Amino acid sequence: MPRPRILVTRRWPEAVERRLCALFDTTLNTDDHRLSADELRAALRAFDAVLPTVSDRLDASVLDAGLFTVDAARARILANYGVGYSHIDIDAARACGLVVTNTPGVLTDCTADLALTLMLMVARRAGEGEREVRAGQWSGWRPTHLVGTRLSGKTLGIIGMGRIALAVARRAQHGFGMKVVYFNRSPVAPAQLAGLETSACARIEDVLAQADFVSLHCPGGGANRHLIDAARLAAMPPHAILINTARGDVVDEAALVDALQHGRLAGAGLDVFENEPQVHPGLLALENVVLLPHLGSATRETREAMGMRVVDNLVAFFGGKRAPDQVS
Ligand code: 8YV
Repeated sequence: MPRPRILVTRRWPEAVERRLCALFDTTLNTDDHRLSADELRAALRAFDAVLPTVSDRLDASVLDAGLFTVDAARARILANYGVGYSHIDIDAARACGLVVTNTPGVLTDCTADLALTLMLMVARRAGEGEREVRAGQWSGWRPTHLVGTRLSGKTLGIIGMGRIALAVARRAQHGFGMKVVYFNRSPVAPAQLAGLETSACARIEDVLAQADFVSLHCPGGGANRHLIDAARLAAMPPHAILINTARGDVVDEAALVDALQHGRLAGAGLDVFENEPQVHPGLLALENVVLLPHLGSATRETREAMGMRVVDNLVAFFGGKRAPDQVS
């Protein structure tokens, strides 16, 4: 039987690419360019599996059921490299008969670490300080220089209490003695909260009103688009700091810029943006924000584990079993 043909849309860690090549008839994206919509459509026609990342926009114009009936596209599975999959239109994928998988669990700790990195960087004005030193503008130590705020004893508000949020809560509470309040759409199982002292809020606004730091951990897309809009930003106290390691579209970026520019919010730490890789020019001009290029899972260990998880999903799927991380 011929080996399944698979397309990897970006460069992946070498060890994973090697394993993919050993197991499947694998095509790699050797120059690591971002695939266009046409290239993605062509991939669906030519390959049994397409392995996308967050940089591939698989919307209904690409996942066109017509491709599968008229053109007899051969793809059967989209094995996503990453836990979030709001870049894939799940209804359209289903209409095309495509199975979709993701990579939960393996990037929890690294993404939580990055949320804490952002909290510390914004609170301690690390970005400003680094820019000052590099620009040769540091005039020496003085008691009032770049004074920030501490995390210890403050209140962390979490929106979306999934795996990554729980890991953030543990770090914040056990490492910094922070109080944790959260909003989650459905009740969180007590076992998940073991070892943490938390309080659940009935409304997002209740979290926003009492938190010194707000960290977003809900999925992007759909009803969560602009979940944090101008009104909700206004519900935060002016000394509060917003952290987003989830998805850029959860925040109305223009409203955030306005709130930051007018002092209605003290700062923001962002790893994700509404139109990646574009960043709102208003954000670029602000000192009280830390901007990272979607680095949540970017450690050697995690990026390799994510890839291996995709391979496990493919092995199960092409072995006639249900892929362990099938989301649709
Ligand atoms: C990934 C992420 O690196 O897994 C996710 O949801 O946001 C990132 O950490 C990215 O999605 C890769 O596709």
